[in-house]
Amino acid sequence: MKKLELKFNAVHQKWSAVAGEERLGLFDTTDSARKHYKELLESRVIKDPVEINKVYQMDCFQHLKRIKDDSVDLVVVDPPYGDNFTYGRGNKSIINNEDESINYKYLDAVYPKLKNNKSLYLFTNHKFVDLLKHHAIDTGWNYRMLIVLVKNNLGLGYGFRNQHELCLVLEKGKATYNSKSFSNVLKMKHVEHDNDSHPHQKEWDVIRKIILHSSEKGDVVLDNFMGSFTTAKACFEEGRMFMGTELDPKWYDKYQKELEALMNQPKLF
Ligand SMILES: C[S@@+](CC[C@H](N)C(=O)[O-])C[C@H]1O[C@@H](n2cnc3c(N)ncnc32)[C@H](O)[C@@H]1O
Repeated sequence: MKKLELKFNAVHQKWSAVAGEERLGLFDTTDSARKHYKELLESRVIKDPVEINKVYQMDCFQHLKRIKDDSVDLVVVDPPYGDNFTYGRGNKSIINNEDESINYKYLDAVYPKLKNNKSLYLFTNHKFVDLLKHHAIDTGWNYRMLIVLVKNNLGLGYGFRNQHELCLVLEKGKATYNSKSFSNVLKMKHVEHDNDSHPHQKEWDVIRKIILHSSEKGDVVLDNFMGSFTTAKACFEEGRMFMGTELDPKWYDKYQKELEALMNQPKLF
């Protein structure tokens, strides 16, 4: 295991967690935040090679095996729904989207990794939400809420044009939440995609709201289906640590570069 240290980065005016030669992320500017992060880093066993503030191009189940039990503060995941759709003019497909089975397997595998009294947000669609909810309850999860995400555009469909997505909020134990006015209906803008971009991107602001509602600065947020790295980017901007994977090398290569550019951007204020 690499030794973790905290160093002050004069260019960014932020503290940075460093393991050997590698910088794991930039954190807050204050001394109290530095102390907090140091304690967090020291209390957490990070098994090489799974590190915080890093996305791996690997299968989510391999990644989960290497994460310590009871170490994750929040899970935000948007797995393949299982609808077997192709998206957009490029007819882009998503790996493991043939059926919804990866969702059940994932709920089982991630449960031990989450700390007690913390939550998991799982995006899904109208077709599988009931099955997933019942599977979750049967396997020890506490069902907390169903969030409806209303989109600003109509999807394809005969008879009914789809205009929403769903997000199951599940808990291990009984979780707490930060906002007293968090609606269970959220507006979600469609993220345009071209021939070279991920076809199923979540709007950044929706993920950001969820993270702010269910975690604190310095917490570790896990997303094993990063796609365009929406969760990683939102965590970085909001001072949370992230862990995760994206299996498709095409998306991994593209969005890893974007994430690095974001993390290396000097902050003016
Ligand atoms: C619905 S997309 C996630 C989109 C993401 N929320 C965003 O905002 O861009 C699901 C992603 O999971 C990835 N995936 C599928 N099976 C996987 C696996 N076993 N391990 C890791 N990633 C996987 C797919 O390649 C796809 O990019």
